[in-house]
Amino acid sequence: MTNKLTWFGHAALGLETGGCQLLIDPFFSGNPAAATTADKIAADFILVTHGHGDHVGDAVAIAKRTGALVISNFEIATWFEKQGCKTHAQHLGGGYKHPFGYLKLTLALHGSGLPDGSYGGNPAGFLLTTNDAKKIYLAGDTGLFGDMKLIGEEGLDLAVIPIGDNYTMGPDDALRAVKLLTPRHVIPIHFGTWDLIAQDPNAWASRVQKETSAQAHVLKPGDSFAF
Ligand code: NI
Ligand code: MN
Repeated sequence: MTNKLTWFGHAALGLETGGCQLLIDPFFSGNPAAATTADKIAADFILVTHGHGDHVGDAVAIAKRTGALVISNFEIATWFEKQGCKTHAQHLGGGYKHPFGYLKLTLALHGSGLPDGSYGGNPAGFLLTTNDAKKIYLAGDTGLFGDMKLIGEEGLDLAVIPIGDNYTMGPDDALRAVKLLTPRHVIPIHFGTWDLIAQDPNAWASRVQKETSAQAHVLKPGDSFAF
């Protein structure tokens, strides 16, 4: 079985695993880095890390068009349900066996207010164990936290982490995150969308190669990584 992760720009990701098409934080409309559009994309499941507009993005429209199940924390799932979407609510530390694998919500240090001002609960990351036993950590928007070490203890095949600075970890803290997470592969996201989060991902990847045992993969929006 192969798993394929696609970066659509900013924090929008696609993941093909176990015959399922997952979308994570599908922000396309208004995303200057978007590699595709909301009306074209396929989805069986939509995972939303937190309530901010650059993560909720086009999730409502895509969920309604495709019938995809929206998975998020209880507060955000309740909000999506009110918009007429099918939802599955989880919360931090809780895992559930979905058709695509076992998905656990993890801690993230950030905010989570929804675009219309509704309360979005606590922000989250996702730790997915695929049906072929690959461990994927999607950090979401977060600052550095020491418990990344606990997440790393699960044995990560892939970590996808923000490096943009200003709203999330910047390159220095993201490098420290790699040292705590000790993933086999790491992919940087949440940079370059706007000047405020402009970064040099290749310079960061070189530091990862030099200072850790992880392999860093710098994608361009639209690029995929198979593992
Ligand atoms: Ni955010
Ligand atoms: Mn964000």
